Amino acid sequence: MKYTIVDKETCIACGACGAAAPEIFDYDDEGISYVILDQNEGTAQVPEDLYDSLEEAHEGCPTESIKISEAPFNGNALKYE
Ligand code: F3S
Repeated sequence: MKYTIVDKETCIACGACGAAAPEIFDYDDEGISYVILDQNEGTAQVPEDLYDSLEEAHEGCPTESIKISEAPFNGNALKYE
């Protein structure tokens, strides 16, 4: 099981995550990323066939704003830090 969430406080709208994983990440009006699956609550399980692109997005984010956990975030990107 994997869950993901974007820390919108640290995202600098670089745009890498949506390129790596367009099924998971999109951008708001200011270009800040969020998780499409659950409106960035971190409560929806990421489908297994998207794990590779999720990992690519995670590794490619310059500000480490993409969080991944085996448990839900419940809207708190810093829950496990
Ligand atoms: Fe933001 Fe990182 Fe994506 S800076 S746009 S969360 S790659």
